[in-house]
Amino acid sequence: IHSMKLLTVFTKQSTVSKNTGFTDANTTAELPETTSVATTQEPPTQRQRTVSSRVTKKVLETQTAQRTAAPYVSPGPYLVEYPYEYHFTINEELKCKQEKPFVVLIVQVAPRNRAHRDIIRNSWGSEKLANNQVVALFFLLGMQTGDDAEQVHRQLLQESKEHQDLIQGDFVDCYKNLTIKTMVMLEWLNSYCSSAAYAMKIDSDMFLNVPNLVNLLLKAPRTNYMTGLVAHGAAVLRDPNSKWYLPREILSEDVYPPYALGLGYILSLDLTKKLIEASRHVKPLYIEDVYLGLCMRHLGIRPTEPPSYSFHVFPVRYSRCEYSKIIATTTLQNMDRVWIWRDFKKPGRYC
Ligand SMILES: *[C@@H]1O[C@H](CO)[C@@H](O)[C@H](O)[C@H]1NC(C)=O
Repeated sequence: IHSMKLLTVFTKQSTVSKNTGFTDANTTAELPETTSVATTQEPPTQRQRTVSSRVTKKVLETQTAQRTAAPYVSPGPYLVEYPYEYHFTINEELKCKQEKPFVVLIVQVAPRNRAHRDIIRNSWGSEKLANNQVVALFFLLGMQTGDDAEQVHRQLLQESKEHQDLIQGDFVDCYKNLTIKTMVMLEWLNSYCSSAAYAMKIDSDMFLNVPNLVNLLLKAPRTNYMTGLVAHGAAVLRDPNSKWYLPREILSEDVYPPYALGLGYILSLDLTKKLIEASRHVKPLYIEDVYLGLCMRHLGIRPTEPPSYSFHVFPVRYSRCEYSKIIATTTLQNMDRVWIWRDFKKPGRYC
């Protein structure tokens, strides 16, 4: 959060459900044999914290009565359906084993957003080797919902065949679910790419200087390392009208622990397992970067400050000289990123 771009994204998603879980607990109880309920494997403690004791009691009664299926309880507007055993509907199981990357780049992108994926494939995503280190690139998406869901899925299968760089989890892809996306990313890295030294999560409208990234990582610690633009002492917003309002019942403290902004952050691979384990003990807040910050605090590990002028939340104006100094920056929508990339890669002096 704290990025202009996310403000825009969030405005589009301002219809976040105000459902507190009360109605779901009662209505779903009436339904027979709900085999596709989403939270049956969630530990009860997780759920109990999100609903009043009255409803919890009701849920427990219903569970006893039904025996076969736990009723679905919405986690409400501030938490997400995690932990939960999500599955991969599109996967690249062998790529890391075959390519043995030093760093894995994971771009979180909406299923429909092929345009951004193609721009990345035709710009910084095409750098497969930097300073003799193998770089792997994957796009992570969830499920498209709506009328054209089936068509989008067919197109994704085709795109996956062409590029072999898509990973899709079976959760609903929407802004509210970014924490699920991030945790599924960590699970994927842990299962299919644990031999890599580092992973970087990056948003689809960023510019990345891959050689500078690799240079940084060649000198970085191999364990307990997380970096990016680190926010310190960010206030928890208590105004119910603010975009990232969180009531005290969800998070009682007034200041977030240090966290790396979600637009682009780096992890040493050992942290994937540790963060997944920590997530079992931390309420799954829907604000994904803050959530990782809370999990890091649970682990007692502080994010590392990046070198100065390396990460930018406000777009750096393009010039060969400026872009040669940075690692990652947001970009403006009207920038032709493929043109910039070609210009940047021309031989010759940068400054
Ligand atoms: C988030 O994903 C879960 C799992 O797919 C789904 O049950 C839930 O409805 C999604 N949330 C929103 C706001 O769409």
